Amino acid sequence: MSNPCLLSSSIGKKFLMSITGLFFVLFLAFHATMNAVHIFSPEDYNAICKFLGANWYALVGTAVIALGFIIHIAYATILTIQNRKARGTDRYDSEVRPASVEWASKNMFALGVIVFLGLGLHLYMFWSKMQLAEIMGTVDAIGAPADGSAFIMYWFSKPWVVVVYMVWLVAIWFHLTHGFWSAFQTMGWNNKTWMSRLRCLSDIIATIICVAFAAVVIAAFCMSL
Ligand code: HEM
Repeated sequence: MSNPCLLSSSIGKKFLMSITGLFFVLFLAFHATMNAVHIFSPEDYNAICKFLGANWYALVGTAVIALGFIIHIAYATILTIQNRKARGTDRYDSEVRPASVEWASKNMFALGVIVFLGLGLHLYMFWSKMQLAEIMGTVDAIGAPADGSAFIMYWFSKPWVVVVYMVWLVAIWFHLTHGFWSAFQTMGWNNKTWMSRLRCLSDIIATIICVAFAAVVIAAFCMSL
């Protein structure tokens, strides 16, 4: 019998994954726009970093993002395990899947793992040396906590970091292209005309976000040459 509780029913978990996922799309759009400022003016970028810093509003934002990540990742893991148990060995039989099920949707969990590992590295490279350092009162050898430009120039002058970020951004692109329209479908917006529009919109949004991030990385690498 289905469980009507939002937290324990399968549809309830999917709903919370959709809400948190859409929230991340908004966060990524903001984060990519903010980072893109660095391409045009490193000084203005540092002014934004200083404004955010470890102020209360930035800390509240970080706490909300962290909570959203925990919900999204925990439910993704639970739902994937439940689905695999329910499907048994069928998950290896691609012939039983409709042809319309695209690659990204079949590999959402694997893509999510790459996104998660990349995020761990990213938080170490930036957040731990900026917001966390400001909270702890420490200063990293690369630069002061609000000197975001110093961290960007330091990390993206290294070719291996550029390659890792490009792989990470490709995984994020695939994850977003499927995740965005799928979230609307979960919330009941599955009218045929709108689904094809939403799929198209997903590709556009994912591409704009990932190209903006990639542009920051490549511009910094080129500036460092
Ligand atoms: C590739 C270009 C990117 C650059 C230059 C960049 C830069 C930064 C910087 C400077 C911070 C530290 C901000 C601070 O602590 O004051 C940060 C934090 C963060 N970044 Fe990125 N980022 C990039 C891509 C991404 C992507 C693709 C994601 C997500 C998939 C992401 C997720 C985060 C998160 C969750 C935080 C912590 C936010 C917070 O503390 O509130 N970033 N990033």
